[in-house]
Amino acid sequence: MAPVILAKLGGSVITDKAKPFSFREEVVSALGKEIAASHQPVVLVHGGGSFGHPVAKEYGLTSGAYSRGGEGVSKTRDAMYALNQLVCRTLMGAGVETYPFAPFDLLVSSNEKHTRSWLGRLLSSGLCPVTFGDVSSYPRGFRILSGDTIMHELAKVLKPVRCVFALDVDGVYRGGAEKKWERGNLLRTISVSQMSKLKVGLGDDATGGIKLKLEVAAKIASLGTRVSFVSGFRRAEFAKALKGLDFYGTVVV
Ligand SMILES: Nc1ncnc2c1ncn2[C@@H]1O[C@H](COP(=O)(O)OP(=O)(O)OP(=O)(O)O)[C@@H](O)[C@H]1O
Ligand SMILES: [Mg+2]
Repeated sequence: MAPVILAKLGGSVITDKAKPFSFREEVVSALGKEIAASHQPVVLVHGGGSFGHPVAKEYGLTSGAYSRGGEGVSKTRDAMYALNQLVCRTLMGAGVETYPFAPFDLLVSSNEKHTRSWLGRLLSSGLCPVTFGDVSSYPRGFRILSGDTIMHELAKVLKPVRCVFALDVDGVYRGGAEKKWERGNLLRTISVSQMSKLKVGLGDDATGGIKLKLEVAAKIASLGTRVSFVSGFRRAEFAKALKGLDFYGTVVV
């Protein structure tokens, strides 16, 4: 099998995070066409965007602390499953043969060897496994398993050649929280040590926003995987990032 690529379609791309339950069908369709045209084995993760995050926040669910459960767990999961169905149906319409799966059972309760062969079989069959940020049950309670964290878990197991994070901005910018995302401030490369020192905006996210993303990206890069950040609104750049070609965005070095 050709080398595997792991990509996250950020919730900021596939939805409008400013508008609850707003799905960006055309954007997902365009990205799907590029995934299908790449003819490479791709594993996808998607974020919560304006489906998962607002519901999780309303009920105080985060990736940091454990919660007792109840209505918030049901409603957050419901929102994520609804988004996953929209994502997968749109990708299917774009020519991607999706295989949706909930991350928890596979990543937390089974061993790496099993996960690797299970995903390997799907990929060899030409399917594109798609998973997503989810609410998971642990002995101490319920917690959000963020899509970014899942990227790290999958990277450890799959050892992909590349990891691509598609965002609603062109990549990682230098500057603090209130900084406008200007072209000149885009970091075309970023080192792992730079990432830990970067001032970032907090954003409206139940799981740590760009801060968590950079922490995760640093861990994935330390595994020897090439990590890139690219705008999901620029399909040609996304396609190049997926293929490992030069693209407009940020590469972790
Ligand atoms: N230094 C920075 N560089 C790039 N983006 C930044 C920076 N600081 C803050 N951000 C914000 O981080 C956002 C991306 O992270 P966010 O978690 O909101 O998106 P996402 O991961 O795509 O969504 P989801 O968590 O739903 O999957 C961007 O929209 C941007 O506004
Ligand atoms: Mg996020």
